[in-house]
Amino acid sequence: KEIFLKDYKLPDYYFDTVDLSFLLGEEKTIVSAKICVVPRVDGAASPLVLDGVDLKLISVKINGNELKEGDFHLDTRHLILTSPPSGNFISETVTEILPQKNTSLEGLYKSSGNFCTQCEAEGFRKITFYQDRPDIMAKYTCRIEADKSLYPVLLSNGNLIEQGDLEGGKHFALWEDPFKKPCYLFALVAGQLESRDDTFSTCSGRKVTLRIWTPPEDLPKTEHAMYSLKASMKWDEDVFGREYDLDIFNIVSVPDFNMGAMENKSLNIFNSKLVLASPETATDADYAAILGVIGHEYFHNWTGNRVTCRDWFQLSLKEGLTVFRDQEFSSDLGSRTVKRIGDVSKLRTYQFPQDAGPMAHPVRPHSYIKMDNFYTVTVYEKGAEVVRMYKTLLGSQGFRKGTDLYFERHDGQAVTCEDFFAAMRDANDADFANFLLWYSQAGTPVVNVTSSYNAEACTFSLKFSQTLPPTPGQPVKEPMFIPVAAGLLDSNGKDMPLSSIYRDGKLESVASGSQPVYTTVLRVTKAEEEFVFADVPEKPVPSLLRGYSAPIRLHSDLTDDDLFFLLAHDSDGFNRWEAGQILARKLMLSQVVNFQKDNALVLDPQFVHGIKCILLDSSLDKEFIAKAITLPGEGEIMDMMEVADTDAVHAVRKFIRKQLASELKQEFLNLVKEKRSTEKYVFDHANMARRALKNTALGYLASLEDEEITELVLHEYKTATNLTDQFSALAAIAQKPGKARDDALADFYNQWQHDYLVVNKWFALQSSSDIPGNVENVYKLLTHPAFDLKNPNKVYSLIGGFCASPVNFHAKDGSGYKFLGEIVVQLDKLNPQVASRMVSAFSRWKRYDETRQNLAKAQLEMIVSANGLSENVYEIASKSLAV
Ligand code: ARG
Ligand code: ZN
Repeated sequence: KEIFLKDYKLPDYYFDTVDLSFLLGEEKTIVSAKICVVPRVDGAASPLVLDGVDLKLISVKINGNELKEGDFHLDTRHLILTSPPSGNFISETVTEILPQKNTSLEGLYKSSGNFCTQCEAEGFRKITFYQDRPDIMAKYTCRIEADKSLYPVLLSNGNLIEQGDLEGGKHFALWEDPFKKPCYLFALVAGQLESRDDTFSTCSGRKVTLRIWTPPEDLPKTEHAMYSLKASMKWDEDVFGREYDLDIFNIVSVPDFNMGAMENKSLNIFNSKLVLASPETATDADYAAILGVIGHEYFHNWTGNRVTCRDWFQLSLKEGLTVFRDQEFSSDLGSRTVKRIGDVSKLRTYQFPQDAGPMAHPVRPHSYIKMDNFYTVTVYEKGAEVVRMYKTLLGSQGFRKGTDLYFERHDGQAVTCEDFFAAMRDANDADFANFLLWYSQAGTPVVNVTSSYNAEACTFSLKFSQTLPPTPGQPVKEPMFIPVAAGLLDSNGKDMPLSSIYRDGKLESVASGSQPVYTTVLRVTKAEEEFVFADVPEKPVPSLLRGYSAPIRLHSDLTDDDLFFLLAHDSDGFNRWEAGQILARKLMLSQVVNFQKDNALVLDPQFVHGIKCILLDSSLDKEFIAKAITLPGEGEIMDMMEVADTDAVHAVRKFIRKQLASELKQEFLNLVKEKRSTEKYVFDHANMARRALKNTALGYLASLEDEEITELVLHEYKTATNLTDQFSALAAIAQKPGKARDDALADFYNQWQHDYLVVNKWFALQSSSDIPGNVENVYKLLTHPAFDLKNPNKVYSLIGGFCASPVNFHAKDGSGYKFLGEIVVQLDKLNPQVASRMVSAFSRWKRYDETRQNLAKAQLEMIVSANGLSENVYEIASKSLAV
């Protein structure tokens, strides 16, 4: 059933307090819920509709009286109290559930022997009958009773107010959360866990106990997570003025989890891959991800929990904002430019294709069948870009005024994206024109810019035109409000000070005060618009969309020479990288044409020279260099083609990499030798940057057929003292089939078979390989003893990894499609959320040639007609077929 934003209605009843009680057992779990119900309009005795899925109702009472058949109505998704009394009343239900059989990992379930929960978005209805919607905010208590030896630790939200032993080897704990919350933030954990403890003193002097819970053997791997948590708490005080509000903050690590982590009030639950780290078992990328996600979930305490969403269409209100906050946090702790490059790459690689495909939806979707399908890169990453645009338009201080007003107005409320917009506008008395369209129009705006210099008048003009492509359900669009941060470079590569700027002939902005302005934000709001810079003494090279100030595709008339000039000189680090990427994309596309015409592939010497200059520029950040010498991904190039040609793009990217490696071999060799280190692993930007550059160089070298290099890579593998270096070397060795590869992979598995997170990387490395015919190997790995279809991380590594290799997933014989089709149908019976994430790999089937289209379509049709298909997979598969 499809649900629409426009159909939102206020609830007939609110819940004031909720007292939950759990009897956790091996055969069954009994859940009692006592709810104080308050009608929204006094005296209106409409039926009370409670959601409930996979629940066995034992009893239901109103004001202490047991209801008989006829007083209520039960179907597979609801319990309806048909004629409740008017005025406030108490509802009490007792239900039975089977967490040990719950493979959906939604609601209450077991993960390696421990009980845990995941309620967002609509999992609470699998625990007890409830109005499972975020605008129902109540105060909770939670009593947990369980066997003491099997479940020595009993956790829920808020403060522990009572605990004790019971007869029969059991014990109990009673938790009380003083803050009102929607049920999606409820959490319970019970099991054999130990904690790393620490404290944080808040700005007002509150001493908060911090605990990170894991199975005993994983405890040593929580040091970095604890560091990240404390850094997050401090940062939110410093940058957003947000203080923590309870005396305790718990994080629990579980190995079976559908997503990354969950911000349950004071009891965050994490996928173990985003908590556990040691230098030997986690890479720099893992360390960085842990920092970001610990921050993300902590920041939700204000953006999500204290101020929550009115309904699920508003998801980006909390997720877009919280992603923006975690991006800023990671930026402040590392390198801003490098972080921005990473975030923009993610947007281009994952969100742009979504915005151009059958699942395209606005940052605030208009409808959904299954909400879980809308925890997307559009809601999260594009949503964060929308928040970033407010900051670009208002400046740091104006933005902070906006968030202060937002918290002041809405603490304790469930609100909408307009409420956030209004706070930003009102706090700054700002004119945001048609900015709200960013929430309602799907698709990536395409902006064209042409420039011209008038030497006589000393003016420089930029003419913008924008279009927004049609998306499912939105054939025609209106022009968007696009902030374009821009600067002008003089012939020495220095920023020119900007003076007056005219928009369509009218004075738009003037450099104010005594400080020269080098970057201005042009407010593009119409389909076509011209900006003219006055007092420009020489023909400049414009640097456009600095810092990637809007989530658009920008096409400009900059020449290759201009781009090489920007690559060498732009004061905006992001745009320096961007100039190199634009050049690389052009180059790759031109070679794709050569490949398709059977012409020989060639590499432009000017490009090699540009890369070499970056490589040798010792003033540059090393991680920036690593990013700047990395070619755009195959997906990005295919995205720019009429018909995506996987084989051509793959061959071209491989060719350019190899050519660069051979022409810059000595430079790469020097880097590997200079930048290697056997010192103790340190997680800081300087060391990560050093490793990133060394390992990027190693990856290039490994593409060469060369005895000396084979030796070198093997040497790096053997002498590595941390996983970042070891795994990079393994990946380098694994580029080419052969005995060296087989031996290294076997050796690595042997070393790490006891550590499932490391084994997952081993799975992913093999499944995502571009080696021809790799699907056979992936079938074999499905039966490997370490693989388990029930564990989402293993599925993402092995199946997700395979879909990440375009040449193999889109193999012309359809073997990749057939593989995924079979898996999706199997997986859907165990875990619909994970199955639906996997089926998404088919969604852009129309982008390929006819043969492939037919093969992919056949699989989608097979899936849609499968018996007992979940709504999750149905939604993605049917929408994919509908275009
Ligand atoms: N709110 C969580 C986060 O911080 C994600 C929860 C996702 N749950 C789901 N069923 N899709 O991002
Ligand atoms: Zn989140």
